[in-house]
Amino acid sequence: MSDISQRERLLALREQLHKHSYQYYVLDAPQIPDVEYDRLFNELLDIEAAHPDWQTDDSPSQRVGAAPLSSFSQVRHETPMLSLDNVFSEDELLDFDRRVKSRLEDGAEFSYACEPKLDGIAVSLLYVDGVLVRGATRGDGRVGEDITQNVKTISSIPLKLQGEGWPDELEVRGEIYMPRAGFERINELARETDGKVFVNPRNAAAGSLRQLDSRITAKRPLEMSCYGIAQQEGEALFASHSEGLQRLREWGFLVSPELRVVSSIADCVDYYQSLLQRRDGLAYDIDGIVFKVDSLALQAKLGFVSRAPRWAIAHKFPAQEEITLLRDVEFQVGRTGAVTPVAKLEPVFVGGVTVSNASLHNFDEIERLGVMIGDYVVVRRAGDVIPQIVQVVLDRRTKGTEEIIAPVKCPVCESLLERAPGEAVLRCSGGLVCGAQRKEAIKHFASRKAMDIDGLGDKLVEQFVDAGLINTVADLYLLSVEQIANLDRMGQKSAENLIAAIEKSKTTTLPRFLYSLGIREVGEATALNLARHFGALPELMSASEDMLIEVEDVGPIVASHLHAFFATEFNRDVVKQLCDRGVHWPAAQKQGGAQPLAGQTWVLTGNLESMTRGEAKEKLQALGAKVAGSVSAKTDCVAAGVSAGSKLAKAEALGIKVIDEQGLLKVFADVGGGE
Ligand code: IVH
Repeated sequence: MSDISQRERLLALREQLHKHSYQYYVLDAPQIPDVEYDRLFNELLDIEAAHPDWQTDDSPSQRVGAAPLSSFSQVRHETPMLSLDNVFSEDELLDFDRRVKSRLEDGAEFSYACEPKLDGIAVSLLYVDGVLVRGATRGDGRVGEDITQNVKTISSIPLKLQGEGWPDELEVRGEIYMPRAGFERINELARETDGKVFVNPRNAAAGSLRQLDSRITAKRPLEMSCYGIAQQEGEALFASHSEGLQRLREWGFLVSPELRVVSSIADCVDYYQSLLQRRDGLAYDIDGIVFKVDSLALQAKLGFVSRAPRWAIAHKFPAQEEITLLRDVEFQVGRTGAVTPVAKLEPVFVGGVTVSNASLHNFDEIERLGVMIGDYVVVRRAGDVIPQIVQVVLDRRTKGTEEIIAPVKCPVCESLLERAPGEAVLRCSGGLVCGAQRKEAIKHFASRKAMDIDGLGDKLVEQFVDAGLINTVADLYLLSVEQIANLDRMGQKSAENLIAAIEKSKTTTLPRFLYSLGIREVGEATALNLARHFGALPELMSASEDMLIEVEDVGPIVASHLHAFFATEFNRDVVKQLCDRGVHWPAAQKQGGAQPLAGQTWVLTGNLESMTRGEAKEKLQALGAKVAGSVSAKTDCVAAGVSAGSKLAKAEALGIKVIDEQGLLKVFADVGGGE
């Protein structure tokens, strides 16, 4: 290619990559598959490598990080980076509103902008002529550190502004944070590789930004959400804070989708409550809500006190981390015999609930934390994750602390515990001799995605096992109303219902049956692949490890678990008893039969009227489709029921085929999945 056409190609690639990166990271709606993005990116790198003088600061190639610095230089903030005053109760929030109103005197109506208070690191970004030229930390508010190389690696930060109307010089403020999933992922990796485990996503974000080597930052899953524009002297560009944020969105920045403008403090209280309710379901940590007087003219009138504005307030949520006493450590035995240390804590209110147990993972984790019984520890509870001990408060350690000793025998059945080479997990060798493993196996068997025995909850299973009524899952099918009607929490009617539910569960599908056996590493997806591949149970039970490895997504480890499971006489007996006692899967649901939807990815959303989403999912899978949880460029079809929301919107934005419930029923009827 001639230099001229290479140069044109380079410019085109940059434009395309800016656009796709914005669609992926800011809008969360990718328009091309990841491999295609990678191809374009590599093409850009190749051209820039051949023409180093063509490289520019705003090229997407800058996202990969640059050579390490020896230190960060200092940056003076022309407009100081302020902090916020906090309130912790509704009464204090109402006081804030009264203060604002009394200062404004005239009694005129005004609005508040409501935003989540993200728990990360405050950062300032400077754009000159639309190009990112500097990123800086807050520091003490007046002088921070220059982290330009690091912020450039964050994909949701535009290297170049989009759209029009931006001032020659624009300073944007916001929070850099690490979403929880990314935080869990990098910590998981650090645990496996003896790397640095971070206490919480905020520390992980801070640690990742403080790297002199920006190539490390580039590997960390960071995002930035923008919440303001440093006010410059001169003509105002907009009348309100929310209008400014809207413009930031147009220029390519990520602004919280939760931003709302409300007209009264009562609405602020409602906003606080509704986000508090949804806090656990958000993808990132927030530690409260920020309310800001929306009008910039009123903000100017209210001004500042010392280091915080009078026009804004942070209403904090209950803490997600607290200190409490570790009273004891108990050992719990799971379905596969894994013995997990569980911390018994002095009850403490954290993340909105009272916590008295926390996970300690395994003995490697206990060693890493250096935790002892009697220590004060930091407990973190965020999202739907089980509370974790993340740190020991060594300052508060007293003389009486005791070491946590690994048990040698199973706390339930006294069988010896084993630790496979290279594994951190201790495991009970008792198998189904162990009462704990039996109970867990039966709970799993009865669960919704397995045999779906309605009404057979964890407590009842424990009661049945403790009363000696059942020892294995097959014994469930021998239970009678008379045997259970007199037990605690039972009665004639509920006993009859339960026996009917057990009876009903006898008719199932092969994938469900395989999943319900609780074979190690065999989840729903693997069970489905196994059923499709072998078509029938006897073939699967007699398969060699080599034959098992041929199944999609089955590797040597899963194959060895499967083989060991079916090689065990006890397990073969239980399977035989289950079948003898009536468990079956009608041939009508022919696994391994015609799969007209093979190779397609479907997404179900909204409420269906003629069936549950779970039933629709099973039918689609039986026809060979993959059913995914979210819409992406790879989705072939979205079946949308009533009140479908963001997934439907995304499918429409991406131009993906959408059908309604009638359409779905027609697919089932046409391709033979309907009964
Ligand atoms: S506004 C003058 N908005 O909270 C107002 N801050 O406690 C300056 N923060 O340093 C900040 N989310 O790091 C604002 N939506 C939000 C925020 C937010 C998080 C952080 C920010 C600031 C700290 C103040």
